[in-house]
Amino acid sequence: MTAPNKRPALNIVILAAGKGTRMHSNVPKVLHEIGGKSILARVIACAKLLKPQKIIVVWGFGGEIVREAFAHENIIWVNQAEQKGTGHAVQQATPHLDANANSLILLGDVPLVDVEACKSLIEQANNTLAILSFNKPDPTGYGRIVRNDLGDVNAIVEHKDATQAQRQITEVNTGIMAMPNAKLTNWLSRLNNNNAQGEYYLTDIVEFAVLDNIDVVAEITSDEWSVTGINSKTDLSLIERIYQGRVAQQLLLQGVTLKDPARLDVRGNLRCGRDVEIDVNCVFEGDVTLGDDVKIAANCVIKNAAIASKAQILPFTHIEDALIGENSRIGPYARLRPGTTLAADTHVGNFVELKNTQVETASKINHLSYVGDATIGKNVNIGAGTITCNYDGANKHRTIIEDGVFVGSDTQLIAPVTIGKEATIAAGSTITKDVPAAGLTVCRAKEQKTYANWQRPQKIKK
Ligand code: UD1
Ligand code: CA
Repeated sequence: MTAPNKRPALNIVILAAGKGTRMHSNVPKVLHEIGGKSILARVIACAKLLKPQKIIVVWGFGGEIVREAFAHENIIWVNQAEQKGTGHAVQQATPHLDANANSLILLGDVPLVDVEACKSLIEQANNTLAILSFNKPDPTGYGRIVRNDLGDVNAIVEHKDATQAQRQITEVNTGIMAMPNAKLTNWLSRLNNNNAQGEYYLTDIVEFAVLDNIDVVAEITSDEWSVTGINSKTDLSLIERIYQGRVAQQLLLQGVTLKDPARLDVRGNLRCGRDVEIDVNCVFEGDVTLGDDVKIAANCVIKNAAIASKAQILPFTHIEDALIGENSRIGPYARLRPGTTLAADTHVGNFVELKNTQVETASKINHLSYVGDATIGKNVNIGAGTITCNYDGANKHRTIIEDGVFVGSDTQLIAPVTIGKEATIAAGSTITKDVPAAGLTVCRAKEQKTYANWQRPQKIKK
């Protein structure tokens, strides 16, 4: 048996110094998001899948916040203060390139970059300049792949430098390429800016490779979106829809029922069990897990949540940082804020807000309530309009409601307060002291009075 060929070390250079003028934004271009993750984060995620020894990002003017956004990543940052072209950008990275490694060049504004296409370039990069190209019916603005009669790649000619004949070529350069560093550093040192744009073109290395008898291959990808760079908000919105369409297709393939795959937005990771149904206009953010048979009705926004099997989320419900137990029913119009944990068979109804509240099995909070900083036991019923007064203006206090409690409608529970097991609280009570277990506790005006001669206030005439 022969030992498997050891792949040479890999350096990945990501070009991200461009200003992004056409975004008309104070946010650097590469920090705009696709599917809830920045464009550059997507490129870096692809790079990491290729297990490189180094990831070098060439950044430019105003890029400090870009660096800060990736402070947790192991990245070598190289500044290109003035954008003098893609060749000049890669030149800035040369001090960091490992002599015996190969390099893959990626563009920081191509968020859907395809890892398989990159692998294919890298496999050839040992002794070849491998370029990713694609066919664009309207190639205006792109560098053209110029091939000879045998089909070998001879050059890449930028649109502005191309002859009329060359402008008819529809095979264009994606900007993604791979090559041995020993060659790359030599070719970079030979670049000049004698061209229409006065820039140092990375693409000129093709001609040097041909001169040096190094093979140049251009692999044509048919997935245009995977090589499309973002230059404007229009591009951003187009790629967002493409990305969301792909996520929806994956979910459908897994067996998720989507009432309309075009009306779903996943801005993070959505994991679904079997027989999950999602109605239209739902947004999922961060990490969301839906168990088997979960149904999400229309217009829900769900962020960082785990929803256990058979739970139903009714329309217009907002959930953030919450856990929802099996067979629960939430909404319509419910708001579960961070720290909400609901056990199995719980019901949370319309216009109910829960925050930092733990609810045990089979308890119900069905109408118009605010319950914050509370611990609620099993089989509790919270009547309509109940409020936990958890905040005294300075500090937050907890409300504890034990198993089997029935809280009548329109009750205020002034925390800190504990309601004992099986207690019943009469509607309209303002509870300021702990309530013992069992029994009926009433805390209202002593008696019901009628003032028979009372007059309603009259409008004062001016
Ligand atoms: C480049 C290619 C062109 C290709 C096109 C694909 C060159 C000379 N041309 O065109 O063949 O068809 O990409 O989109 O390489 N960048 C820097 N520093 C610079 C200039 C650019 O970091 O000085 C970065 C940009 O941030 C961007 C990438 O390089 O991520 C491509 O730059 P861009 O100006 O969009 O491409 P073109 O030069 O027009
Ligand atoms: Ca340019």
